[in-house]
Amino acid sequence: MIEISNLSFSYTGEEPYLIKDLNMTIPGGQLISVIGENGSAKSTMIKLVVGLLKPLKGQVKIHAKSVGYVPQKMETFNKQFPITVEEVYKTHLRALGIKDNKRIDECLEEVSMLEYKKSLVGNLSGGQTQRVFIGRALLGNPELLILDEPSTGMDIRSQKEVRKILKGLREKGVTILTVEHNISAAIHNSDFIIRMGDNIGVLYDIKTYKRNIQHEDVDNMLVFRKEEF
Ligand SMILES: Nc1ncnc2c1ncn2[C@@H]1O[C@H](COP(=O)(O)OP(=O)(O)O)[C@@H](O)[C@H]1O
Ligand SMILES: [Mg+2]
Repeated sequence: MIEISNLSFSYTGEEPYLIKDLNMTIPGGQLISVIGENGSAKSTMIKLVVGLLKPLKGQVKIHAKSVGYVPQKMETFNKQFPITVEEVYKTHLRALGIKDNKRIDECLEEVSMLEYKKSLVGNLSGGQTQRVFIGRALLGNPELLILDEPSTGMDIRSQKEVRKILKGLREKGVTILTVEHNISAAIHNSDFIIRMGDNIGVLYDIKTYKRNIQHEDVDNMLVFRKEEF
């Protein structure tokens, strides 16, 4: 689904590279979680895959008709701006060149937010806002949905709801590539793990990851209880 070859990147355009000579083939039809410390280039890698950043060396090839993207921290969205959920979706449909407005209800249904269609986005909770933006990313019927920390900064119940939505989409055949800050949730929910660190990312199938689990990850895991997934 995603082929990354000899990818190197830095924001300065020169060495030292933040990502150095990364090679990875990310399979389709799976839920893949990207984990790693703060500053380990998770968001940078995601932006390179989405095409928001250009590699200095190497390339990223995506084999998907349509790609949806939910950036990190949609709360940068100006909450004062008086726009309804429906208007946000209509604007996005127009940007995608889709005339059929019935996708709006379908996608809101998908994220259980249909009853908030006429609500002002600024009046929604963090979890509801995130669901709205996941639904917006679905408008173009993506085969690949890429999300950057979709469940960060919200209460546990909302986090669970977001993870449930992603698992549901994966069951419907959408490939999900998501940055996940909660390692135990990542292990619990994913088919594959990409662990970022040391200017590289390593792709593990979940069985292998569990077998090779690193010491610091186990320490992190102890922080989370099972019912949080
Ligand atoms: N636009 C930018 N310009 C310069 N440096 C950046 C930019 N964005 C991120 N960085 C730096 O790149 C490193 C990786 O950032 P990021 O990919 O956001 O990490 P993560 O998502 O894993 O926390 C960090 O040291 C960060 O400060
Ligand atoms: Mg990030």
